Amino acid sequence: MSRQTLRQLAERRGLLIGAACSPGTIEAEADYRRVLAREFNCIVAENGMKFMYLQPGFRQFDFSEARRLVDFARRHRMKLRGHTLVWHNQLPPWLKEGAWSRTQMLDILQEHIFTVAGHFRDELFAWDVVNEALADSGGWREDSPWYKGIGPEYLERAFRWAHEAAPDAQLFYNDYGMELAGAKSDACHRLLARLLRKGVPLHGVGFQFHLGVENRLDRRACIANIRRFNRLGLTASFTELDMGIKKPITPQGRQEQAHEYASRIRIALDAPDVSAVLFWGFTDRHSWTPAFTKGEYDEGLPFDRNCRPKPACHAIARALEE
Ligand code: G3I
Repeated sequence: MSRQTLRQLAERRGLLIGAACSPGTIEAEADYRRVLAREFNCIVAENGMKFMYLQPGFRQFDFSEARRLVDFARRHRMKLRGHTLVWHNQLPPWLKEGAWSRTQMLDILQEHIFTVAGHFRDELFAWDVVNEALADSGGWREDSPWYKGIGPEYLERAFRWAHEAAPDAQLFYNDYGMELAGAKSDACHRLLARLLRKGVPLHGVGFQFHLGVENRLDRRACIANIRRFNRLGLTASFTELDMGIKKPITPQGRQEQAHEYASRIRIALDAPDVSAVLFWGFTDRHSWTPAFTKGEYDEGLPFDRNCRPKPACHAIARALEE
């Protein structure tokens, strides 16, 4: 029996469904390439569009890897999302180790955004302009080189420059741990509302959704949280969905994962405005989760190590079909 693909089902619902990927893997692994193109209508570079890869040397830009993803997306009629212009992580040594003045940091940020967002202006439909600027307490992430070097103003500047360079792109603030109301989500809501009042070009909020399967999300509370961002006029996206299972992994664990995945897809469909759902990878063969959790969690994605659909994938499909 032939199964409808996630892509077909999502398109019928007007939803973008995507995955983080890498061009090296696309080129090296035929099954990965085939499933990615078949199941998704949107992709994002897991790493290749981060600062350290695009500007490895001071004022030396390298778009070669990222262009391979642009080509793949074009060939398969997929939308391409940009991740990320401004983040505290994966910065090149020259930037982290230099003793830059505030003016120099502003110049570096402006040049990076103008060059990168300008380069891809006709190819990316959206950018995570700023990623993870807030601490879990809701305060600023004070160890960010951007915060340390510029102060909180870096956010507003980044959005304005990104809009200047890529006027048609949807510009997102992206973060984790704010799927439900709480200190971080509340602070983010206040921050984005303030930016919008100042006329900053900001169009969307990305909820990452890196949550293990044991994190049952209360559906009403999650939708209410998304709704208050939508009420600001922002579209929402689930940008990095995955759901590691604590080892040892049992068939029951996989069933619970399927159940919880379906529930998250229903949240996306029932919230007022969630325009895209992207998984952080799609096959358990390539996932950041085992390394990050030192082997404690694994199998967080909808396709198994052989790129075959898992119970989670079937449950997602059913939720999209309902
Ligand atoms: O490029 C080097 C390679 O030269 C070296 O041989 C290899 C050996 O470890 O490391 C490679 O770099 C790794 C890089 O991914 C590219 O594969 C880094 O060690 C590794 O730390 C890095 O991890 C990435 C992580 O961001 C960095 O914080 C993950 O792949 C990526 O999935 C993850 O993505 C982030 C999002 O951007 C933001 N939200 C959270 C999410 C998960 O952490």
